[in-house]
Amino acid sequence: MLVDSHVHLDDERFDKDREKLIERFEKDGISYVLHAAYDLQSSVKAVNASEKFEQIYASVGYHPHDAKDVTEESLQIIRSLTKKSKVVAIGEIGLDYHYDHSPKDIQKKWFIEQIRMAKELDMPYIVHDREAHGDIYNIMKTEKYSGTRGILHCYSGNVELAREFIKMGFLISLAGPITFSNARKTKEVAKEIPLEHLLIETDSPYLTPAPFRGKRNEPSYVRYVAQEIASIKEVSFESVAKATTDNFKRLFKIT
Ligand code: NI
Repeated sequence: MLVDSHVHLDDERFDKDREKLIERFEKDGISYVLHAAYDLQSSVKAVNASEKFEQIYASVGYHPHDAKDVTEESLQIIRSLTKKSKVVAIGEIGLDYHYDHSPKDIQKKWFIEQIRMAKELDMPYIVHDREAHGDIYNIMKTEKYSGTRGILHCYSGNVELAREFIKMGFLISLAGPITFSNARKTKEVAKEIPLEHLLIETDSPYLTPAPFRGKRNEPSYVRYVAQEIASIKEVSFESVAKATTDNFKRLFKIT
């Protein structure tokens, strides 16, 4: 069985078949998914999905794109949602300098605030880093605390930086782009970073892996990410499935 460490099943592209798709998880070999949030409304949706479906765990928080909409009040509601039993992380939080949907200083402010919330609550946090490696690393390092842990979601940095995040207590999650023939840097990360520090994800409905590129992504396609890692590392598919599942359960304390 496989885990998918990052999905957005509240996306409208799942409106027609969301429940059918979730009910198919077991048949598709998916044991657990993390339903990641990007704003207050999607945090509520993630919590609701986690309460309805056994295989779904939730994170709550504000994505850097939506940082401009954060208020002290909305963050208090996010904080209250963390009390729900299947909310296992704060996220996704971080910086996105590719789109700049929110000003950089606002992105940084709420990234830092949400890291501090994770610290106070003793929860892992999920990091979104797009073209912001330097600032992400510096903020995480400055805000580091005993017990820091979480996930670098859809990791796009190099091996050296991955090792620094691992030292801080983070797992490196690889997504569909690893299946693209030009993904040299990410393939190198898969090769060099030991399985005990890796996770797999789809980021559905985004980042569809090579065989279905251009179509909607879905959790069952996480197998293509696992297959690619297995082939790069020259290990069995099963060993990748087991290690990433164990890592997911260890991080989120799922027994
Ligand atoms: Ni995401």
